[in-house]
Amino acid sequence: MIVYKKPHEIEMMRAAGRVVARTLRIVSESIVPGKTTPRELDALAERLIREAGGIPSFLHYRNYPAATCISVNEVVIHGIPDDRVLQEGDIVDLDFGVTLNGWVADGAWTYAVGRVSEEAQRLMNVTRESLMQGIAKARIGNRIGDIGATIQRYVERHGYSVVKDLVGHGVGTSVHEEPSVPNFGKPGKGPAIKEGMTICIEPMVNQGTFKVRTLADKWTVVTADGKLSAHYEHTVAITKDGPDILTSE
Ligand code: MF3
Ligand code: CO
Repeated sequence: MIVYKKPHEIEMMRAAGRVVARTLRIVSESIVPGKTTPRELDALAERLIREAGGIPSFLHYRNYPAATCISVNEVVIHGIPDDRVLQEGDIVDLDFGVTLNGWVADGAWTYAVGRVSEEAQRLMNVTRESLMQGIAKARIGNRIGDIGATIQRYVERHGYSVVKDLVGHGVGTSVHEEPSVPNFGKPGKGPAIKEGMTICIEPMVNQGTFKVRTLADKWTVVTADGKLSAHYEHTVAITKDGPDILTSE
C-alpha cells in the first residue's frame, strides 16, 4: 500500500530532512585524509542527530548495528562503519536516516577524500547528475518507471552501470515503504506518481559491472569486479508544483 502524505506531514518529513542534510555537511567536513575512520564519522553523525532531537533511523533496523552506512570505494552500500583509516583518493558514501517526531527522511552523498582521480570524480559527477535527472521525472502524471529509465539511460550513456539488486523506496513513518523505486526500467511502467507520495531516489552506479555481492557480515555490498561505486540519495515529496527535495538545508 502506498501512503500519500498531507502537506503538514510533508513538513514533518522536511524537518527530519534538514537534519539529514546538515549532518551530512558537518560530518563530511570533518574528514581528514590519513586520519579519520568511518567509526568516528558514525559517532559524530549519531551525536548530531540526537542533539537535533532525532533518532538515527538505521540503528537496529533489521538488526543493523550502526547509525550510518559508510561505503568506501568498491563498497556499493550498507558498509558497516569500521576502523579503516580513510586515505587520500578514497570516495566515501555517507548514508543514514533521521527520525524526528515520528517522521523519517533518508539521504546519502558520496564525498571525495582529499584529491581523487579524475575517473573517480567523473563517476561521482555522473551519479549525482543521474539522481537530479531522476528527481526531475518525479512529477504527477509520470510513472515510477520514468524515474528509473531516465537514471539508467543517463548512467549507461556515460559508460557506467546501474546496480539492479538494490532500489530506492517510499519513506514516511518508517524507512522503507512502498513503492520500490528502481534506478532502471521502462518509461511509462510502474505505479503512477501522485501528489503526496514521498520517495527516496538513490542511484548506485558502478564503474564496471553492475553485478554486486554481499560479504559474510550479511550487510556490506561490494562490486563484483572490485571497481568503484558511487551513491547519492534524496527524499523527495511529490507536490502539485513538482518534486520537492526534503533532504536539504
Ligand atoms: N541504505 C538503505 C536505504 O537508503 C537503508 C539501509 S537500512 C539499514 O534505503 F538497515 F542498513 F540501516
Ligand atoms: Co534509502
